[in-house]
Amino acid sequence: MKELSRAEHLVENSPIRRLFNKAAGLKDVIAFTVGEPDFDTPRYIVDAAIDALNHGAHHYPPNAGITELREAVSRETEKTHGFKLHPYLNAMITCGGMEALFLAMTVIVDAGDEVIIGDPSYCNYAGMVHIRGGKPVYVPCYAKDHFAFDLEAFEKAITPKTKAVVINSPMNPTGGIATEESLKKIAELCVKHDLYVLSDEVYNSIVYEGHHARSIATFPGMQERTVVVNSFSKKYAMCGWRVGYAIANERIVDGMSRMQEHVASGVNAATQWAALRALTGPQDDIEEMIRQYTVRRNLVVSEFNDIPKLKCYAPEGTFYAFIDVSETGVTGNEFAEDLIEKAQVILVPGDTFGPEGKKYVRLVFAASEEKIKAGIGRIRKYMLEREKNQ
Ligand SMILES: Cc1ncc(COP(=O)(O)O)c(C=O)c1O
Repeated sequence: MKELSRAEHLVENSPIRRLFNKAAGLKDVIAFTVGEPDFDTPRYIVDAAIDALNHGAHHYPPNAGITELREAVSRETEKTHGFKLHPYLNAMITCGGMEALFLAMTVIVDAGDEVIIGDPSYCNYAGMVHIRGGKPVYVPCYAKDHFAFDLEAFEKAITPKTKAVVINSPMNPTGGIATEESLKKIAELCVKHDLYVLSDEVYNSIVYEGHHARSIATFPGMQERTVVVNSFSKKYAMCGWRVGYAIANERIVDGMSRMQEHVASGVNAATQWAALRALTGPQDDIEEMIRQYTVRRNLVVSEFNDIPKLKCYAPEGTFYAFIDVSETGVTGNEFAEDLIEKAQVILVPGDTFGPEGKKYVRLVFAASEEKIKAGIGRIRKYMLEREKNQ
């Protein structure tokens, strides 16, 4: 038989899914692997979907989403980003932030194009670039820079083939937030070299201690070249509903909507009505979730930093803790493997997100305080044993 596609060869199964499956086969395991809220979707949002189904939301929705939701996401982005948007020309509803990124890549990236992504960064970016036949170009991101791009390396990575840059702030897997200075410099380089930006802002509402994640799209000359990607998954605990959105210039949104016809055709209609209710309804449940993430984040940081040889970066946003294990003398991968075996705790090795992540492991603290305490308790015990045996 003829060979399957290049993308089929290049795109690997997500290592996080693999760990997730591994955890499912083990007994008495505590897993901190999958990046999703442990909360259920607030009841009034669920009720909005039921209402929609009871009132006939059974038909194909428009490719770009129902007008009411496009209007609502436009208004929301006008508030958060200070933009002036046309709700039908600049906004489109997608199957999660994931499909917004994918459709944006589809309209922007051609075979052979280079796309700059962070190292480490969310592992699905590289997969999408491969599907498009493009080349992911990793630029290192260090803790000293809040895990934003190393600016010197970023500038050097730009070639005549560079077409786009993916920015994610607040960031998965590190919890970093790019500083204004760093974003300003990146924005200037994007304007100078005429680059598109995919700004993945799915965590922009989960921020700590007065931090604020400014969007790169708000810098001079950036709105027209940036696709702002957002999602209902994290903020509203709606991962399973698969709804997100993109805000971009007219031409890009039009292209993405045309592509949508050939991909999923549209987003589940009842889900869109639920998302509308999420945006326009009371926000108390969301504030409570963020309050709880804050308590958990503080717990994780203080507990880990109290364990000799482990250093936890204090996340400025998201529900991820990135823990430097280099003082133990092993890589994040070796550490994570040993931890599963000896303590039945599952963390994600940092190199899942790029080679620069190799001295780290990632812990998802979208989990109950009880689970976090039990998991860290096991890690503390494991570290004590480890020290004794050395
Ligand atoms: C950085 C980042 N972007 C995008 C997504 C996709 O989220 P969704 O498709 O559920 O909106 C995720 C999910 O984990 C993520 O971590």
